Amino acid sequence: MNDLLMMAFWSFVLIFPAFVANSVPVLARGKRPVDFGRSLWDGNRILGDGKTFEGLAVGLIAGTAVGALAGYPLQSFLLALGALVGDMTGAFIKRRLGIARGKPAPVLDQIDFVIGALAFVYPVYPFAPEQAAFLVVVTPPIHLIANIGAYLLKLKPHPW
Ligand code: CTP
Ligand code: MG
Repeated sequence: MNDLLMMAFWSFVLIFPAFVANSVPVLARGKRPVDFGRSLWDGNRILGDGKTFEGLAVGLIAGTAVGALAGYPLQSFLLALGALVGDMTGAFIKRRLGIARGKPAPVLDQIDFVIGALAFVYPVYPFAPEQAAFLVVVTPPIHLIANIGAYLLKLKPHPW
C-alpha cells in the first residue's frame, strides 16, 4: 500500500510541469494559429484555431518555470514541450478525423499531452513503466474535473 502511494505521489510530481503546460494556454487567448490558418487536402485545418503561438509560449514558459523552481529545469522544459507537441498531435488527428476545433474526442483529448510529455522526458528521466501506466489511467478523470472547473470559471466554452 505504501509503495503504491509513493509511486502515485512521485508520478504526480513527475508529470506536474506537463499539467501546467497543458492548462495555461487557454489563459493566453491567442490569436496567431500555429498552422497559419492553412488547411490540408481533406479541406480541414491542419491544427485549427485552438492551437496558437501565444498558447505555446505561455505553456512552455509556465511549465518550465514550475519545474525549474522545483530544481529540475531540463526535465520540466522537455515535459512542457512534449505536452504541447502531444496536444498539437491530438488536434492534428482530430482534424483528420473531421472533428471540429473544440468538439470532444474522448480519451485522445485527455491523454495526448501526457503521452507527449512522457515521450519527451524519457531520454533524460527514464521513469518506470508502472508510472506511465498509472498516469495514463488517472489523468483522464483529473483532466475532466479540471475542465469542468475551467468551464464554470467561464475560461472554456465547453466542459471538456
Ligand atoms: N490553446 C492555445 N494554444 C495551444 C493550446 C491551447 O491557444 N497550443 C488555447 C486555445 O484557446 C484552446 C484552449 O487553449 O481553445 C483549450 O485547449 P484545447 O482544449 O486543447 O483546445 P480546443 O479548443 O478543444 O481545440 P482542439 O479541438 O484542437 O483540441
Ligand atoms: Mg479540447
